[in-house]
Amino acid sequence: MRFSEILEEYGQTHLMQFWDELDAAQRATLEAQIADIDFDLIRRLTTEQEATVDWAELASRAEPPPAIRLDDPAPSPSRTAAVAAGEEALRGGQVGMILVAGGQGTRLGFDQPKGMFPIGPISGRTLYQTHADRLAAVMQRYGRTIPLFLMTSPATDAATRAYFADHDFLGLDPQHVHFFCQGTMPAVDAASGKLLLEEKHQLALSPDGHGGLVAALDRHGCLETARTQGIEYFYYAQVDNPLARLCEPELIGYHILAASEMTTQVVKKRFATEKVGNVVSIDGKVQIIEYSDLPEEYATATAPDGSLRLWAGNIAIHVFNRSFLEAAVDAAGGLPFHRAHKKVAYLDASGRKVDPETPNAIKFERFVFDLLPTAQRAIVVEADAAEVFAPVKNADGAEVDTPAHAQAALLDQHRRWLEAGGAECAPGVRVEVNPRWAMDAEDVRQRIEPGTRFAADTYLR
Ligand code: UTP
Repeated sequence: MRFSEILEEYGQTHLMQFWDELDAAQRATLEAQIADIDFDLIRRLTTEQEATVDWAELASRAEPPPAIRLDDPAPSPSRTAAVAAGEEALRGGQVGMILVAGGQGTRLGFDQPKGMFPIGPISGRTLYQTHADRLAAVMQRYGRTIPLFLMTSPATDAATRAYFADHDFLGLDPQHVHFFCQGTMPAVDAASGKLLLEEKHQLALSPDGHGGLVAALDRHGCLETARTQGIEYFYYAQVDNPLARLCEPELIGYHILAASEMTTQVVKKRFATEKVGNVVSIDGKVQIIEYSDLPEEYATATAPDGSLRLWAGNIAIHVFNRSFLEAAVDAAGGLPFHRAHKKVAYLDASGRKVDPETPNAIKFERFVFDLLPTAQRAIVVEADAAEVFAPVKNADGAEVDTPAHAQAALLDQHRRWLEAGGAECAPGVRVEVNPRWAMDAEDVRQRIEPGTRFAADTYLR
C-alpha cells in the first residue's frame, strides 16, 4: 500500500498537510517517522476502551506481598547471608546496572535531561554524577567492573552522551558505559484520535515509558552484551532518585537467595493514601495497584497490630534476572500501554503552534513494573525511605518531591551517618558526603575520628 493510502486508511492524512512546504530533508524526516508508526496499534489504543480493570474487586483479594521486613529481628534468610550472597555476585562480576533516564521531566521544568540537574547540596554534582560516584565506589569496594546500561530517549540522548563525553565519563570507564535509546510513541489528540504534529515535518513523539526498557535493551544488543560478559543480574534504578543505593548487596542477595526473578525494594507507606504504587500479592502474583486505583477502604485497612495491611510502597528499585528480561522480550510486546491525559504542544490546521493550557492529548506509556506479575517468583524487600528514596519530580515550591526536598534528605542522611560515627555537626551546618569517600554509615564510622567537629559547610570527597 502506498504511503498516502495508509494515511487515508487510518484517517491520518492531515500529517501530510504541509508537505509542499517541506524541503527534501524534512520530507525524509517526516516519512521516516510515519513509517515507524504501528497504525493498527494506535487505532486499537485510541478506539478501544481501555481494558476496564475492576480495581475494587482486585483490591478485595490483595494481600501483603511476600517480604523481608525491616522490623523483623530475624528475617529468613538473615541479612548477613543476603549481604554475603550479594557481595559474592558483585565480586564475581555478575551484576550490571540499569539506570533509566529517558523521561521528559516535564514537571521539573529543567531545560536539559533531568540527569544533568545539579542536585549536590554543596558540591552541585548532577544526578548523573551522583549515581556515577556511587557506582564507582561499589566497583572499588568489590574490585569488579559493573557495566552501566543507561537508557536515554530521543529527548535526552544527544545531550546525555555529550555530557558524559565532555566530563570524562564522570570517572567511569567509557568501555563499560552503554547508552541505549528507548523508543517513542506518538501523542494523539484526545478528542479525535488524530496524531499530532509538533512541527510541519515532525510528529509529536514522546518516550514510550520506562516499560520501553525491555524492547530497547534487546534492540540495542544490551542483553547480548550482558550475557557475554557473564552478567546474571541487573540492578534497576531511575535517574531522578539521588538516594537510590545502586547495586546494594543486600537487595541483590535476597533476590538470589529467594530465587526471585524480579525483586522490588519498597518502603513502608507513611499513611494510607500516600501517592505511591501499592505493591501487593493477588492470587500469588506480586503486582502494583496505583494509589489512584486503590479504593480507600482497602488502602486504610489495618492488620491486627494496627499497621496498614497494604503497607508496601513502590520506589522503582528492582533487581532482575537477565534471563527473566530475555524471556520478557517476546512477552513485553504484550505489556499494556497506559494512557495519560497530558498537555502536548502541537500545530493547528493553519500551521500555528498551540501551547495548550489544559490537557489536550493522550500519551501512551509502558511501565516497567507491569513485568512483576509475569515473574515466576517475585519478592519485596523493605528499606528505610530516609535512606533510599528522595525523588526529584517537581520544581521547587511544590509540596513534595522537589530538588530542595531531595537535598534536605541527602544532608539529613549524611548528618545521621556522621553523628552515628561520633562526629558532631554544628546546628545549621551542612555536610555532604560523596560515596567515593564513604558509601554508608559504617564506612563513615571507619573513616571519621570520633569527636570530629564540623563547624562550617563541608564536602567530603
Ligand atoms: P517519571 O514517570 O517520573 O517521568 O519517570 P519523568 O520524565 O521523570 O517526569 P515527568 O512525568 O515528565 O514530569 C520516572 C523515571 O523513569 C524514567 C525517567 O527518566 C525517570 O528516571 N523514564 C520515564 C524513562 O526512562 N522513560 C520514559 O519513557 C519515562
